[in-house]
Amino acid sequence: MLIDGIDGLENIVAAETVLSEVDGQAGRLIIRGHSLDELAGKVSYEAATRLLLDGFFDDLPADLAPALGAARAAVFAEVAYVDDRLLALTPIEVMRALTARIADGEDLDTALRLIAAPAVFTAAAVRRQAGEAPIAPGPTLGHAADILHMLGKHPSGPEAKALDTYLVTVCDHGLNASTFTARVVASTHAGLTSSIVSGISALKGPLHGGAPGPVIEMLDGIGAPGNARAWIEAALDRGDRLMGFGHRVYKVRDPRADALKKAVRLLGEGSNVLPGRLAFAEAVEQAALGILKDRKPNRSLQTNVEFYTALLLEALAFPPTAFTCVFAMGRSAGWIAHAREQLADGRLIRPQSRYVGPRPKAAA
Ligand code: ACO
Repeated sequence: MLIDGIDGLENIVAAETVLSEVDGQAGRLIIRGHSLDELAGKVSYEAATRLLLDGFFDDLPADLAPALGAARAAVFAEVAYVDDRLLALTPIEVMRALTARIADGEDLDTALRLIAAPAVFTAAAVRRQAGEAPIAPGPTLGHAADILHMLGKHPSGPEAKALDTYLVTVCDHGLNASTFTARVVASTHAGLTSSIVSGISALKGPLHGGAPGPVIEMLDGIGAPGNARAWIEAALDRGDRLMGFGHRVYKVRDPRADALKKAVRLLGEGSNVLPGRLAFAEAVEQAALGILKDRKPNRSLQTNVEFYTALLLEALAFPPTAFTCVFAMGRSAGWIAHAREQLADGRLIRPQSRYVGPRPKAAA
């Protein structure tokens, strides 16, 4: 672990990684030697996962799809343990609780079960909360197609392609809050389940992966393009943050926003509803960017991944309460790869805090 500086958390380099680089000045994301453009919409989630895991497991198969399908089928047994108390919680709390039932380990089987878990448990939670029976996975389907199948939707066609594009787009992203959390826990050798459950917990917050649900609330609250300015000004006057805008690292537009906007546009071809919704969202985005620029001229607050995530997942008919779970379905591969990379490094992550409180009188 390297410590570059102590002046601000932004300057602390807490890990070296071969997995991804987020260039916040250029607005570029590299995932294991490939630009996001080379991967999103071009390779499957299974292929992106294999790319991330390559070199971290001796027994990694050349084609990950059958093994990931088998892992989905294996974890489905846990769905039987959803009870009424769990069902009263949010989908991500249900999914996290079921994920925590997977035995801890550091091997490939455990890893694949944990990558499969958010997909299988979210689909089951969403269906149970809608009063419907869970649907068992189809292990021979692709991962994205099977998610739609488990939700009772059509597993082929443009929806599966759009979801696959989304999962690849968010599969890894440097040392974000949830990945850092997952690495810290991995570094203690607690096991991959502990690591991924911690990652899910960090992702859940609205400043990280919990933003896309509130993006839909914002769009619904605005209602029509002509209301955008007044609604946004009032929200900022109250001290609210605009969900889907701003990023700790990106000072220019988040490249994932455009990858997802493209996926929404492709999905919208042939639909009567989606092009209008997209045009509305673009109008809100433009209003928000203009107002943020006026109000915070010294900050560069740009559209982040969550804005078009919201639109895409809404178009795929996920309930907004489950949007963060879908993020976890994609990010689980990145968390596992980072956890294994941390284990290979072998060191416990143990940063220092700087004490700024009072000294005991005797020592003063
Ligand atoms: N809306 C309004 N103002 C904002 C926003 C926003 N979305 N984001 C930042 N600001 C303002 C802050 O109020 C602050 O103003 P100040 O300097 O006058 O105090 C300034 O911009 C800088 O804010 P910081 O909190 O220092 O920025 P930070 O890098 O810590 O925050 C974050 C990044 C948490 C993503 C922030 O931009 C935010 O809260 N965005 C909204 C939530 C969101 O979209 N989260 C998803 C992020 S992407 C992801 O995690 C996958």
